[in-house]
Amino acid sequence: MTAEDTPASTFRYNEKPVYTTSSGAPIDNPSGWQRPGTIGPLLLQDFHLIDSLAHFDRERIPERVVHAKGAGAYGVFEVTHDVSDLTSINMFDTVGKKTNCIARFSTVGGEKGSADTARDPRGFAIKFYTDEGNWDWVYNNTPVFFIRDPTNFPLFIHTQKRNPQTNLKDATMFWDYLSTHQESIHQVMTLFSDRGTPYSYRHMNGYSGHTHKWTKPDGSFVYTQVHLKTDQGIKTFTGEEAHKMSADNPDWNTQDLFEAIQKGEYPSWTVYVQVLTPEEAEKFRWNIFDLTKVWPQKDVPLRQFGKFTLNKNPENYFAEIEQVAFSPSHLVPGVEPSIDPVLQSRLFSYPDTHRHRLGTNYQQIPVNAPLKAFNPFQRDGAMAINGNYGANPNYPSSYRQLTYKSVKPTVTHEKWSGAAVHELFQEVNDDDFVQAKGLWDVLGRTPGQQENFVTNVSGHLAAAHQDTRTRTYEMFSRVDKALGASIQEKTEKQVK
Ligand code: NDP
Ligand code: HEM
Repeated sequence: MTAEDTPASTFRYNEKPVYTTSSGAPIDNPSGWQRPGTIGPLLLQDFHLIDSLAHFDRERIPERVVHAKGAGAYGVFEVTHDVSDLTSINMFDTVGKKTNCIARFSTVGGEKGSADTARDPRGFAIKFYTDEGNWDWVYNNTPVFFIRDPTNFPLFIHTQKRNPQTNLKDATMFWDYLSTHQESIHQVMTLFSDRGTPYSYRHMNGYSGHTHKWTKPDGSFVYTQVHLKTDQGIKTFTGEEAHKMSADNPDWNTQDLFEAIQKGEYPSWTVYVQVLTPEEAEKFRWNIFDLTKVWPQKDVPLRQFGKFTLNKNPENYFAEIEQVAFSPSHLVPGVEPSIDPVLQSRLFSYPDTHRHRLGTNYQQIPVNAPLKAFNPFQRDGAMAINGNYGANPNYPSSYRQLTYKSVKPTVTHEKWSGAAVHELFQEVNDDDFVQAKGLWDVLGRTPGQQENFVTNVSGHLAAAHQDTRTRTYEMFSRVDKALGASIQEKTEKQVK
């Protein structure tokens, strides 16, 4: 896109609207202000001026506490293969069925103005406007995550943000946490591979990470993991290229997505599901509720079922992308969360933060509003802008009959017993290094990938305190002895 061709310079009104105050009164000059005579003092009665200053003072809403920097677009999901043997999810009920959606991609740790190409996982969130309500896929571009104990989320995130005293990013905090919570090693391996710096949002995959249940009306269900594989192909920056781009164009990924869609180069992803029956899950080598583990694809093959395409840019970034509110608890009949404790905690956390960030009626904001919703018992509150259900009774009134659709709960597979405990998911053990080593071997299949990994870690780790560096070398040695040694050698050379 050239300077002559930017949306700002090509935008044209068909008509010339009359400029008014926010309350609709015409105003002759937006720059004028009221005063007596030519040099008289400003008049407090100047509603136009006072209102515009007061509104400006309130333009900022809280940025997302994580995933603050992002870009998004509208698109469509199409069912390409039948999955009716697995689930009755309405959106998937017919091959060829299309469902509109909006997606938002993001970095995690940085503030709203931070660079797009920072080393970080990328958020990969989609809201599907289905006939049975909004279904949000609040995924990442990595199939695993750093934590499996939900209590660790705020603790972990704090260490990836700024030091409370210096207000600086702090390599010691970063590695101190990771080397003392070594269940994160699998995600650390992904983060410091070149997939930690995607070339663009179009060139990365999305993964549910968590296990969900896909259910059927007879109460049966299967466990699932969803993968969205980029049709553009995986493309990454090296650490050095990403670093340079952070300075040259901190908004690179945002620009790339907008311009590709503007040019009609619509990015798409092929969508797959991995499936385990409850019986298979019981015998499975890995705990399917452990977010630090994948389901190896040779054991649980990917089954293709959909195509997701982005084809329309937002008209207004703030209204549509800043205000979009995703939640793993925005589910539809036919899908249920698994007992993964991180997922269970997320079910609470997102609507909670939306009520803080956007207000109690965040579901009424047009980008969040479902195609059909009828819940007149949820009333009032700040910014009730959709008519507030008019004269409808605010309780289940015998004078206003509603239809209640039966949604049968699934046959419970997990059985719980025992006293309440307050413990970790599981202590770190050798098993936590097996898939991390698997990824190290996968990196070895492409020339240069292992070397880049060592460069990426050492460049970052060199700024950490000696104790933390030593513990981190030991951690990488548990993945692979030679890996630990090369990281140590390369890091120590860079310590200042
Ligand atoms: P497979 O050999 O069957 O699959 C390897 C997978 O690794 C590929 O399908 C690809 O996933 C992914 N991959 C390839 N290159 C890279 C890279 N440079 N960085 C990160 N991921 C890469 O083996 P497994 O299924 O047993 O997985 C081996 C390791 O691969 C795992 O330990 C995990 O770290 C990683 N992985 C596994 C995934 C899974 O769901 N099983 C998904 C993604 C990564 P894709 O095609 O999705 O890009
Ligand atoms: C955003 C909490 C784990 C993916 C957020 C936000 C919060 C949050 C508070 C900001 C939401 C907003 O303001 O709109 C948590 C907690 C977690 C957790 C408490 C664990 C206990 C995860 C995991 C994934 C993930 C495991 C992916 C598998 C995302 C994405 C966004 C996000 C994609 C950005 C959504 C958007 O674009 O608006 N998270 N998160 N999070 N989270 Fe998480």
